[in-house]
Amino acid sequence: MAKLTRDFFLDLDRLDALAPFRDEFYLPDGLIYLDGNSLGALPRVAAARARDVVEREWGRDLITSWNRNGWFQLAARLGDKIAGLIGAEHGEVMVCDATGINLYKLLSMALDMRPDRKTIIMEGSNFPTDAYMAQGLIRQLNRGHQIEFVEIDTVLEKITEDVAVVALTEVHYKTGHLLDMKLITRRAHEVGALVIWDLCHSAGALPVDLNGCQADFALGCGYKYLNGGPGAPAFIYVARRHQGRAVQPLTGWWSHAAPFAFERDYRPAANIWQTATGTQPILSLAVLECGLDILCRANMADIRRKSLNLCDYFIDLMEIYCADFGFTCVTPRERQCRGSQVAFSHAHGFAVMQALIGQNIIGDFRAPDIVRFGLTPLYSRYVDVWDAVIGLKNIMEQGAWKNPEYHRVTTVT
Ligand SMILES: Cc1ncc(COP(=O)(O)O)c(C=O)c1O
Repeated sequence: MAKLTRDFFLDLDRLDALAPFRDEFYLPDGLIYLDGNSLGALPRVAAARARDVVEREWGRDLITSWNRNGWFQLAARLGDKIAGLIGAEHGEVMVCDATGINLYKLLSMALDMRPDRKTIIMEGSNFPTDAYMAQGLIRQLNRGHQIEFVEIDTVLEKITEDVAVVALTEVHYKTGHLLDMKLITRRAHEVGALVIWDLCHSAGALPVDLNGCQADFALGCGYKYLNGGPGAPAFIYVARRHQGRAVQPLTGWWSHAAPFAFERDYRPAANIWQTATGTQPILSLAVLECGLDILCRANMADIRRKSLNLCDYFIDLMEIYCADFGFTCVTPRERQCRGSQVAFSHAHGFAVMQALIGQNIIGDFRAPDIVRFGLTPLYSRYVDVWDAVIGLKNIMEQGAWKNPEYHRVTTVT
């Protein structure tokens, strides 16, 4: 194995084909940002674009912008850009609403398509909003549906003939574990179930092949690896073969077959527009496009290669420099089993992460005991991995995390 020194990582950065992309993002000097799996960095062009939408498109062109500046088509146009990142075709993805809302719509459609089945499979340790939305929908439908919570090792055996829908997140938000989309989708289809994939931690982070896996439905957020900004609109995917076969329940006018006919009664659009609800946030969509345009110019295979290297080095360095400090790696070592983050459990994880943030090294904490580091190949550097682990080692050696300041609980962790 090569000698792992700071110079070694600086050399890797010099040879890195993706290194020029870092200049397209604004990142404060001296900050090591390893939280792009929570909030992606700001594309430099975004501020000018936001200003242009506000001043020219809104200020000067006013209502004419819906046609003149393409506002009405924007949600579908961005959907087509995301389609290229997740193995979908044009016309299969729409950018709209929030992740949870899109899950609600898709789950409702999928349950309608399997009216005789009552079971929904979900991962119990998943980011909870998906289950919360499902629980809300079940209450509202009041048709006797139930969620069967499973964990990774039992997913396949639990997908049986009574299952209507399997709703899973491809990359686990805490551990970074990557599920086998093809295998699970095939198993679900064998027993006649449908699958919804939450791609929050996949889109823009690794190659996704929805159509290659024969996926039915998917959704994801815009503010993580797509670099769309805080609260960026989410996306929703419906495989072409399912479009027009089920109706999502939030039947606003944008999802009508002829929105500008202003008919009294609802008629669903027969294409991806049926997933839209109402007027979408144009400012947010315009800013999201800045992040997407950068990603669309990068090669996803390069992103994946660098992401895997960054994660490998992070785990290697933790084993070398932090082995005695009580961290347990919860991210799979096997490359094919992980996304683009590394996570460790630690009894004092919250305070340790606060101390690290105090040193300008940003990761995050997920209760009860997980410290997470997102590796985002467009702007993460190899030397960041070195500096972060050495920073962590110093904090642990000096006991800096014991400072009461780092134990003060914050609303957002
Ligand atoms: C897997 C997963 N699903 C959904 C969400 C969030 O949903 P929303 O964008 O609706 O807040 C997150 C947020 O981190 C997530 O990790």
